[in-house]
Amino acid sequence: MVYAGSEPWWKPKYWRKRTWAIVGVIVAVIIVIVVVVPVKVAEANRYPNYSKLNYALADEYSGTTFFDNFDYFIGYDPAQGFVHYVPKEQAAQLNLTYASESTAVLKVDTSVGPGSEPDASTGRFSVRVESKRQYESGLFIFDVKHTPFGCGTWPALWLTDQNNWPDNGEIDVMEAVNQATDGNQMTLHTTKGCTVSGVKRKMTGSTLKTNCYNGTDDNAGCGVGGPSDSFGESYNDVQGGIVAMEWRDQGIRMWQFGRDAVPADITAKQPDPSSWGEAAADFPNTDCNVASHFRNQSIIANIDLCGQYAGGVYAQSGCPSNCTDYVANNPSAFENAFWEFGAFEIYQAK
Ligand SMILES: *[C@@H]1O[C@H](CO)[C@@H](O)[C@H](O)[C@H]1NC(C)=O
Ligand SMILES: *[C@@H]1O[C@H](CO)[C@@H](O)[C@H](O)[C@H]1NC(C)=O
Ligand SMILES: *[C@@H]1O[C@H](CO)[C@@H](O)[C@H](O)[C@H]1NC(C)=O
Ligand SMILES: *[C@@H]1O[C@H](CO)[C@@H](O)[C@H](O)[C@H]1NC(C)=O
Repeated sequence: MVYAGSEPWWKPKYWRKRTWAIVGVIVAVIIVIVVVVPVKVAEANRYPNYSKLNYALADEYSGTTFFDNFDYFIGYDPAQGFVHYVPKEQAAQLNLTYASESTAVLKVDTSVGPGSEPDASTGRFSVRVESKRQYESGLFIFDVKHTPFGCGTWPALWLTDQNNWPDNGEIDVMEAVNQATDGNQMTLHTTKGCTVSGVKRKMTGSTLKTNCYNGTDDNAGCGVGGPSDSFGESYNDVQGGIVAMEWRDQGIRMWQFGRDAVPADITAKQPDPSSWGEAAADFPNTDCNVASHFRNQSIIANIDLCGQYAGGVYAQSGCPSNCTDYVANNPSAFENAFWEFGAFEIYQAK
């Protein structure tokens, strides 16, 4: 009998069944590496083509007529806040919305409290304005000079279709609660089938949650956190800056620029996001059909009090007493609870 090992190993002619099996496995592994791995890598690297769009100014909210293009939301707060949103006339009378040539202010009432008539025992007067116009896409440039903060507050600058929520989606551009020391939160809320989990993103912000579906994480949405000076006292100390949100089929991205770092193309009213560098938040359309999840959006600016979010984390935020008690009895605590805006410029791709 010939000892197999004495034959040249590299000649298939002398291979036994076991050798053939081993060779088969090796070939299969190589095929997997050569074919499957690149597919997986390509999948992990999928990223939309955010190539330059040519934007033209479509709408401008500015000057003394700033609030004319908004409706004042009245009635029961959908977020269960301890707040009475007042109509336009009452907002003017209480000076809760005020617009001059250069600035638009939206604030929480500080005039009523314990012993006054009316008082704030069932909620404090505040404002929620919603743009009369609805949008289907665009580049939104917000000049934000002052953000509201303080125990009990839940301010937001956002977009949604209130009558078709969450079907038509929600885009939160600026949001914070209580002392706002955690920085700005940028979040999407949608129906099923929109996530940013495991997809490539190009952004400087930190990922909070990745499923945008309102039925997950108690409707926390898929959020991105900005640095601590992107909202609240430290943001206001430098007169804020420019906040931009681009919404297109390829994805939704947001940027924040300090006053001394505003791109020249924004100042020149010829904004080109493709030249701005990495966004603060990036929600690519990789696993989220942006065109079908976001429609008919109004721009909303409001200051809620307590409610699902600020109320929910009130004690954790290091705030005194409980939220509703504090809001009802401390009118002077809301002096910093105001938005101050420059212009809002809305651009559409040509
Ligand atoms: C209304 O509010 C604005 C902005 O805070 C302020 O400049 C203005 O003096 C106020 N007007 C009155 C009548 O209080
Ligand atoms: C768009 O949104 C507004 C405000 O929520 C709503 O009144 C209107 O019915 C919506 N339009 C469509 C076509 O859904
Ligand atoms: C999510 O939206 C659906 C309506 O589509 C609603 O019935 C449900 O209560 C919402 N869930 C949360 C937590 O808001
Ligand atoms: C909040 O605090 C007030 C005053 O201490 C108290 O009367 C009230 O019951 C508290 N409410 C809740 C919901 O804890």
